[in-house]
Amino acid sequence: MGEPGVEPAKAFAPEFPPVRAGVAILGATGSIGASTLDVIGRHPERFHVAALTAQSKLAELVALCERFRPQLAVIADAAREKELRDALRRAGLPTRAASGPEGLVAAAQCTEAAIVVAAIVGAAGLLPTLAAARAGKRLLLANKEAIVCAGSLLLDAVRAGGATLLPLDSEHNAIHQCLAGAGNRKGVRRLILTASGGPLRECRDFTNVTPEQACAHPNWSMGRKISVDSATLMNKGLEVIEASWLFGFGLERIDVVVHPQSVIHSMVEFGDGSVIAQMGTPDMRTPIAYGLAHPERIDSGSAQLDFHRLSALTFEAPDVRRFPCLTLAYRALAKGPAATIVLNASNEIAVEAFLERRIAFPAIAQVIAQTLDAFEPEAPGSIDDVLAIDARARAQARRTLQEVPES
Ligand SMILES: NC(=O)c1ccc[n+]([C@@H]2O[C@H](COP(=O)([O-])OP(=O)(O)OC[C@H]3O[C@@H](n4cnc5c(N)ncnc54)[C@H](OP(=O)(O)O)[C@@H]3O)[C@@H](O)[C@H]2O)c1
Repeated sequence: MGEPGVEPAKAFAPEFPPVRAGVAILGATGSIGASTLDVIGRHPERFHVAALTAQSKLAELVALCERFRPQLAVIADAAREKELRDALRRAGLPTRAASGPEGLVAAAQCTEAAIVVAAIVGAAGLLPTLAAARAGKRLLLANKEAIVCAGSLLLDAVRAGGATLLPLDSEHNAIHQCLAGAGNRKGVRRLILTASGGPLRECRDFTNVTPEQACAHPNWSMGRKISVDSATLMNKGLEVIEASWLFGFGLERIDVVVHPQSVIHSMVEFGDGSVIAQMGTPDMRTPIAYGLAHPERIDSGSAQLDFHRLSALTFEAPDVRRFPCLTLAYRALAKGPAATIVLNASNEIAVEAFLERRIAFPAIAQVIAQTLDAFEPEAPGSIDDVLAIDARARAQARRTLQEVPES
C-alpha cells in the first residue's frame, strides 16, 4: 500500500452525468441517504433512483422503494432477504431484492446506476465502495471510514475502474470547490479544515456525559456514530486522514481550526497568502447536490445564507488536551496506513460501547490509545490485509473495553 499523498485520478474530472442518471444509494435509510433522496426528489428530470440499501430498517426501505421505484433493494442483514422480497411483492413493486455483502456489492455495481452514493456508516461500507470504484461509477463518498481504512487501494480502484471520486463530507467538498475555483493545486500552502467543536466544545468535565448529550450536535443533524465522533473530535481526525488521501497532502499541510458557527466549511491557503473559503448554511444537501450535478449547479433545497443575520464568524484552536482523539488521529496518520485502520476499528468499537452505555465518554479515547499501542501491524498490501488488520484491532479493542471506566 502506498503512502498518503496520492492524487485521486479524475477527482477533478469535469464530466457531467448522463441525462436522467441512475443513482444507487448505499445506506439509504440514514441521514445522508435521506438528504440525497431529498435532492433527487427535487430533480426527477435529471436523476432516478436505481438501487437502495439498508442494514435493518426494512419497513423504511420498502417505503422508500414505493416512493422512488428503484430496480434493486438490498437489506444487508442476509437473514431478511425473503422478508424484503415478500414486502416488495405485497407492495406491488417490480423491485428486485438482494441481501448480505454480495447484495451491497451488486447495488454498487448495478448497471442502471451511473452514480453511487457511499453513505454506509463505518468500515462496513468498504467493500461496496471499492466495488463502485472498480465499476467506474461517479462515486460520491460520504463513508469516510472506507478511505481512512483503505486510502491507497480505493484510489487505485478509482483509477483502474475509470471512476470519478467526489467527496460529500462538507469539509472535503469545500476544499474540492476551493481547489476547483483556483484552477489547480499548484501553490497550495495548506488545507484548513473547520470543525464546529461539537456539542461538548465548552464542557469541562466529561465524566458523566450521556449518549444523548454527545449526539446533540448544535449545527448538524447526523447519524449517532458520526455525532459521537464530532463530540470527541475523532470526526475531524478521520477527516484529516481523508483529506490527506483525497488531495495528496501530508499531515504537516493539513490544519484544523474550530469555527463554531459551521458557516465556513473549509479553506485552502496559497503561497501568496490568499485564503479561499467555501461558505453556506450547514446542510448536507449542498455538498450532495454539488456531487450529483458537478460541474453544473442545481437547487439543493438548502436555505440561503443570510449575511444580515450572521453576527459573527469566530475561530479558535482545537483544545487537544480535552479532545485527545484529534492527536491520536494525527499520530496514526504519521505511523502509516495500518495504524489508521487500527484507529478506525478501535474507535468504532469504543463508540458503540459508549452508545450502549457500557463505557464512559472519556474511555473512548482511552480504548483507542491503548489499542494503537497494543500492536503495530505490517502495512496492508491488499484488501484482505485491510480486513485482517481491522478484525485484529476490533478484537484487541474489545479486550481493552474491560480495562476502562464504565459508564
Ligand atoms: N450525516 C452527516 O451529516 C454526514 C456528514 C459527513 C459524512 N457522513 C458520513 O456518512 C456516513 C453515513 O453517515 P449517516 O450520518 O448518514 O449515518 P446513519 O444515519 O447512521 O446511516 C447509516 C446507513 O448505513 C446503514 N448501515 C449501518 N450499518 C450497516 C452495515 N453494517 N452494513 C450495511 N449498511 C449499514 C444504515 O442502515 P439502517 O438504517 O437500516 O441501520 C443506514 O442506512 C458515515 O460514514 C458518516 O461519517 C455523514
